[in-house]
Amino acid sequence: MPKVELHMHLEGAAPPAFIRGLAREKNIDISGIFDADGGYVFRNFDHFLSVYEAACQPLTGPEEFRRLTLAVLEESASHGVIYTESFISPDFCGGGDLAAWRDYLAAMQDAAREAEAKFGITMKGIVTCIRHFGPEQAKTAAHCAAETAGEFITGFGMGGAEMMHRPGDFAYSFDMAREAGLRLTCHAGEWGGPDMVADTIRDLKVERIGHGINCIKDLALVDQIAEAGVVLEVCPGSNVVLRAVDGWAQHPIAQLRERGVKVTVSTDDPPFFKTTMTDEFDMLAKTFGWEEDVLMELNHAAVDAAFCDTATKDNIRAKLEAA
Ligand code: ADE
Ligand code: ZN
Repeated sequence: MPKVELHMHLEGAAPPAFIRGLAREKNIDISGIFDADGGYVFRNFDHFLSVYEAACQPLTGPEEFRRLTLAVLEESASHGVIYTESFISPDFCGGGDLAAWRDYLAAMQDAAREAEAKFGITMKGIVTCIRHFGPEQAKTAAHCAAETAGEFITGFGMGGAEMMHRPGDFAYSFDMAREAGLRLTCHAGEWGGPDMVADTIRDLKVERIGHGINCIKDLALVDQIAEAGVVLEVCPGSNVVLRAVDGWAQHPIAQLRERGVKVTVSTDDPPFFKTTMTDEFDMLAKTFGWEEDVLMELNHAAVDAAFCDTATKDNIRAKLEAA
């Protein structure tokens, strides 16, 4: 089955063997982030964020990001993904320097073109700032995003430690990105409560929310989200592994969908959570009895909410219909 994904972090999709190989080439010791089987290992969300940042250390230049992009897109395509939006971060690509960022971006776009030709997968980039690096550093990321907005960079967002700072602290950055024509999304309600989701929608004027699952604790807010057509980028496998929910059976995605919220499904950081888009669809089918029609509805919701031009959407829809 073809699949459409809206929420995947490029560095978070780096296969552990790829990162280990680069670390060896560069003599960087990050052996502590791997378990005996060679997978990433972490205790909780905060530890996950620090393991994630350590895994980024060997990604030192545009060539590393070109190889990473190609490897990640090949892996996604092998699971039927035909369109993917990937979070990419100026903080990990030149430390916020605009000229450096342009070089990294050219390398990633080059790899995306190669992957489209070879594996039939289309990628768009969402520039992301990192919440725990603070509002000032976010402005630098937003500036990089605004200066490179276009056919490849179509969105701006924010990930990182959700309980640090308030959404409104990042309004300047999101305003700058919006004024440059970028579409907006932000992680919220993965760890924060309904108030965090509501403040994010109000103060950052985003049209999509990364995760957003904790809005379920306030049904009036759920109805408001459904009414406003704000789309949730739900990553159930990530939520289960990081223990944002107690288990697949307790995940609120089915309840949110039944109440009329536009939900989509993504992997977030697939090798960290030992998941793939195939696994996500399989677990949804198994847990909630969702058959192919519901899974295809998730795909269509993702295309509708995608941050890309109409020609690209038409092309993706034609591929979904041909399946
Ligand atoms: N960055 C990568 N994965 C993330 C997640 N699940 N939450 C917040 N920031 C992230
Ligand atoms: Zn995420």
